[in-house]
Amino acid sequence: MNSKDLGPLSHTEAAIGVFDSGLGGLTVLKELKLRLPQERYIYLGDTARTPYGSKGRETIIRFARECSEFLFDWGIKMLVVACNTASSYAIEALRAESPIPILGTIDAAARQALQVTRTGKIGVIGTDATIASRAFEKALQRDGFKHALHSKACPLFVPLVEQGMCEGEIVEKIVELYLSDFRRADLDTLILGCTHYPLLKNVIQEFLGAEVRIVECSAALAEEAGSLLPEYVLSKTSPLKKDRLFITDDTPKFESMAAFILGSSKLSVERAMLGEGARP
Ligand code: DGL
Repeated sequence: MNSKDLGPLSHTEAAIGVFDSGLGGLTVLKELKLRLPQERYIYLGDTARTPYGSKGRETIIRFARECSEFLFDWGIKMLVVACNTASSYAIEALRAESPIPILGTIDAAARQALQVTRTGKIGVIGTDATIASRAFEKALQRDGFKHALHSKACPLFVPLVEQGMCEGEIVEKIVELYLSDFRRADLDTLILGCTHYPLLKNVIQEFLGAEVRIVECSAALAEEAGSLLPEYVLSKTSPLKKDRLFITDDTPKFESMAAFILGSSKLSVERAMLGEGARP
């Protein structure tokens, strides 16, 4: 069933679309559902092509467009790009092509980091592509940040999380490998610049120490979504009886990880086809 089967949707009935390269964006979906529980959500994890973080700009933009088109076909009223890599490269292109509000992760996390830092010693971790884009530096500087930003790409974190490995000795070793420099740099704030990383937060916090404030985009993004949806477009009732979760390839751990992240045992995950192949 898609928006065509539902007939013309009023704004209050339409769902909010959310996508990521895999299951990381579920950390954002969880927060959206907490803050806007009356809404219905359609989530897409592009598991066939994850990780996005090792791809180049053109590919990331193409993938983000295809994910968005899949969700637009549902007649969504808002799109949340729950992926920092896609937000870094594709948000402007997506906004230029769409009449509905499109929210990305970068500004939300940068704003929050500026609110919590006391010393201005901020670090950011993300995928290779996100760190190379310097999107966080630009967003922080736009908001008046004048210090040097400590950045580090952590490409092994996404595959670990996609495999459901969020703690234990191997994760601790990899966290140590990536974050030792940060411990020496005496940071007071660390931005988790990838929506998969909140699932490693306990290990990261343990390694850096309780005094380091860890910032994720999800809470700020959910708040922004609420403020952007004026009263008249908030859902009262929806023809979608429940949220829908889609992935682009069967991924053994997705369903159990989704149930763990969303705290729900009754999830059904469906397959989505993207791009030209999906069109009649
Ligand atoms: N969760 C994603 C992000 O926030 C994607 C990571 C990836 O696919 O490399 O960047």
